[in-house]
Amino acid sequence: MMVSTLDTGVHTDGVVKTFDGRTVLDGVSLDVGAGEFVALLGASGSGKTTFLRVLAGLEDADGGVVETPGARTVVFQEPRLVASKRVRDNVLLGQRRTRATKDAASSALHEVGLAGRERSWPTTLSGGEAQRVALARALVRKPRLLLLDEPFAALDALTRLRMQALVARLCRRHRPSVLLVTHDIDEAILLADRVAVLKDGRITLLRTLEQSRPRDPATTEYQQLRRALLAELGVGAVA
Ligand SMILES: Nc1ncnc2c1ncn2[C@@H]1O[C@H](COP(=O)(O)OP(=O)(O)OP(=O)(O)O)[C@@H](O)[C@H]1O
Ligand SMILES: [Mg+2]
Repeated sequence: MMVSTLDTGVHTDGVVKTFDGRTVLDGVSLDVGAGEFVALLGASGSGKTTFLRVLAGLEDADGGVVETPGARTVVFQEPRLVASKRVRDNVLLGQRRTRATKDAASSALHEVGLAGRERSWPTTLSGGEAQRVALARALVRKPRLLLLDEPFAALDALTRLRMQALVARLCRRHRPSVLLVTHDIDEAILLADRVAVLKDGRITLLRTLEQSRPRDPATTEYQQLRRALLAELGVGAVA
């Protein structure tokens, strides 16, 4: 396997990953351009998290080419905050605390709507607030690649909509390359420049979304794409 580090964007070719003789990724080839937002859909167990972990450098592929920027961070489904550390120290986890990094933490918290919460304890935060701390922790590292693994899945519908809008705003401002793993077709269509489907270990559908933002679910274009994605995911129309 070849792994190298790019200045910008992601390049993968023929990525293979096997667990105990079972092939989960069977030749995944997917690029994410510099500053591009790609959403990855797929059934449960199709290998989305595995692929994201390979891009994050948390898992080695068994074959194929993986090139990513060195500056990459992951936001998971759950915020993974350290309960014994205050919000600011969670944002700066693993980083040195200096005047400059503390200021950067405060500014990242401000960006996610948590100005002034530096000294709060994780247990005093709502689910959406905790997930915004996780976003601030990603932001403060100035990633060139932001890897999001169902980051809104555990949130209520209203908070999820707000978080989606926040992530869209932050990505427009900072322009990292983004790979968003999600089960939510509408979330994918709402946020992404391109949508990919992972099935049988490969990318079986890849669509560029031309519709201008904000995307209107009432349009024919939106509904056609939605149906195509549902069909690819093996979900037919509900009678
Ligand atoms: N460390 C591991 N050891 C053994 N099998 C694993 C390991 N990690 C993942 N798998 C298997 O690989 C397959 C893909 O898992 P993965 O977590 O990538 O799926 P996913 O598409 O993210 O699913 P979900 O949508 O449910 O999160 C699953 O069958 C899983 O059991
Ligand atoms: Mg997963």
